[in-house]
Amino acid sequence: MTAIEAFDAVDLIHTKRDRGELSEPQINWLIDAYTRGYVGDEQMAAMTMAIFLNGMTRAEIRSLTMAMLASGERMSFAGLGKPTTDKHSTGGVGDKITLPLMPLVAVFGAAVPQLSGRGLGHTGGTLDKLESISGWRANLTNAEMLQQLQELGGVICAAGSGLAPADGKLYALRDITGTVEAIPLIASSIMSKKIAEGTSALVLDVKFGSGAFLKDIERSRELARTMVELGEDAGVATSALLTNMNVPLGFAIGNANEVRESVEVLAGGGPADVVELTVALAEEMLSLAGITGVDVGAALTDGRAMDKWRAVIRAQGGDPDAALPVARETHVVLAERSGVLVEQQALPFGIGAWRLGAGRARKQDPVQHAAGIDLHAKPGDTVVQGQPLFTLSADEPARFARALEAVAGAWRIGDPGEPVLDGGPLIAERIGSR
Ligand code: URA
Repeated sequence: MTAIEAFDAVDLIHTKRDRGELSEPQINWLIDAYTRGYVGDEQMAAMTMAIFLNGMTRAEIRSLTMAMLASGERMSFAGLGKPTTDKHSTGGVGDKITLPLMPLVAVFGAAVPQLSGRGLGHTGGTLDKLESISGWRANLTNAEMLQQLQELGGVICAAGSGLAPADGKLYALRDITGTVEAIPLIASSIMSKKIAEGTSALVLDVKFGSGAFLKDIERSRELARTMVELGEDAGVATSALLTNMNVPLGFAIGNANEVRESVEVLAGGGPADVVELTVALAEEMLSLAGITGVDVGAALTDGRAMDKWRAVIRAQGGDPDAALPVARETHVVLAERSGVLVEQQALPFGIGAWRLGAGRARKQDPVQHAAGIDLHAKPGDTVVQGQPLFTLSADEPARFARALEAVAGAWRIGDPGEPVLDGGPLIAERIGSR
């Protein structure tokens, strides 16, 4: 005898299609029935399109998040005896912040469980970057992760597939049905995984601008507010920074070169924008974890964050002193005139680095760790005709042509005094109730 199902998918689709509100039991059933394969992809595709077009109420988004959370395991760090605090970025070009941030926050006694992913498309993945380091291992057992958090206070490793498995299935469907950019779906997807990871505090770095997932700041603000509310409702101290992704972050876009730049930051140097965002996010993570009155910047200049980085990399089999991979071929683009660099658009440079081999087009593809782009000037800098503007690196020279096509028209040298089109300050707003 087949079990009687509590609802019919088609009734729920009608409700959402006609702008009605789904109840918590209906959403719980839908996610459970989709995860076990009773509701098929075609029905779920219709539902996600109805959500994309008609939105969801706050109560619906909360129910959706909790239903996805309930589809898998939920980790707990309660036994660690120290506050846990985490960061999630919605992704951007040159965004390597997790690398210097994790050891920096761990210096101050908080535990940072950074469960990360790999890159797909023009935004890189933290694990891909770290795998440029000889011997470094992304896959840890739960016991290894806990031990490292206890002993060192920081870990960056692969998020297990047991966390919010409903999201994995739903995200793959959204990806091929034009329904990724729906705020209720993005917010529930990110927050179900983050709540499942068991952190007690969470800072969201929500990007806006040409290199971001959501281009305009109003939509990014709405996403940030929705996610902060979801976190707070689930008992996670949550805040968000809205940050500018019109221009690449730092000078390095790729994998090995982003590790190199992160190590420069940990050595007390590095690009000003990367340092500014790393320190701001660290202060926010520590404050949510109840750690205040500390001088975060000092830990970058006095070597404490670097010592922590080296210990954490070693604990995961990596050699922090090993030379990073270098590409076989490079191509340097020179300034065509003297003046001021007034524009440098993030998205084309991200696509360019991806085409050089730094990113992957399909989940199963490998990345080329040494491939990428190194910028030599930032918007606002004075440049002289003939000076290097940026260098492309790849293992196969055949990749240069398509990368150059991607970046064509993405930068401009203007006259002194012309406005710089960088989209304004790096950190635009903070969203959070505490
Ligand atoms: N990242 C996620 O994890 N989910 C989304 O829906 C979008 C970005």
